[in-house]
Amino acid sequence: MSAGRRRRGLWKEREDGMMDGLKILVAMTGASGAIYAQRLLDNLDPRRHEIHLVMSHYAEVVLAEELPGGLRLPAGVAKHKLKSMDAPFASGSNPVDAMVVIPCSMGTLGRIAHGLSGDALLRAADVTLKEKRKLILVPRETPLNLVHVRNFELLLLAGAVILPANPSFYTRPATVEQVVDTVVARVLDHLGVEHGLGGRWGEDEEC
Ligand SMILES: Cc1cc2nc3c(=O)[nH]c(=O)nc-3n(C[C@H](O)[C@H](O)[C@H](O)COP(=O)(O)O)c2cc1C
Repeated sequence: MSAGRRRRGLWKEREDGMMDGLKILVAMTGASGAIYAQRLLDNLDPRRHEIHLVMSHYAEVVLAEELPGGLRLPAGVAKHKLKSMDAPFASGSNPVDAMVVIPCSMGTLGRIAHGLSGDALLRAADVTLKEKRKLILVPRETPLNLVHVRNFELLLLAGAVILPANPSFYTRPATVEQVVDTVVARVLDHLGVEHGLGGRWGEDEEC
């Protein structure tokens, strides 16, 4: 991908309907489920797409609990500081094509729903919505209260995709990773990114 193409975030739709050359921001927050972000990063090819990462402070705290070995950052992924607005995607002049907040805490979800943009992660979500790019939120919380549901409604009205971290079991996943991948596959589908994670009803032999 040329530098100019990267700057403009020009993606290309392939004949099979999948996308190449997407500029994608993966944002991790302090909800349980750091492994969802890990598996998403494992399945995004930085040679095909421009991949950025930003983590909230509590994402680092939960990561230490859930993945003691730390995050495996694939080569080519650009990690950005939370407290710096120097990241390109913090400006509407250079938005990403898609942003995925995974896992998404109810705190971050509420802040995005109400337009708070005090750090690079929140500002990027605000920019993604205002520039009409794809914002995919992967919340993890249970049970839900009315505040959560009202915030879901606001975000849906603003154009976000709410894709809860609700795994499916009809493919009979045998490992934690396979359970996680049932959610990650749906995220990749919404990004328009090719993947081999399966999970399509009626297509997989093992179904
Ligand atoms: C181990 C652990 C698990 C957590 N799980 C969740 C969760 O599943 N969902 C959620 O909304 N918050 C969860 N929290 C609370 C958030 O981390 C907390 O609300 C934090 O302020 C979120 O900040 P952030 O949105 O900036 O990442 C968890 C916290 C810890 C320490």
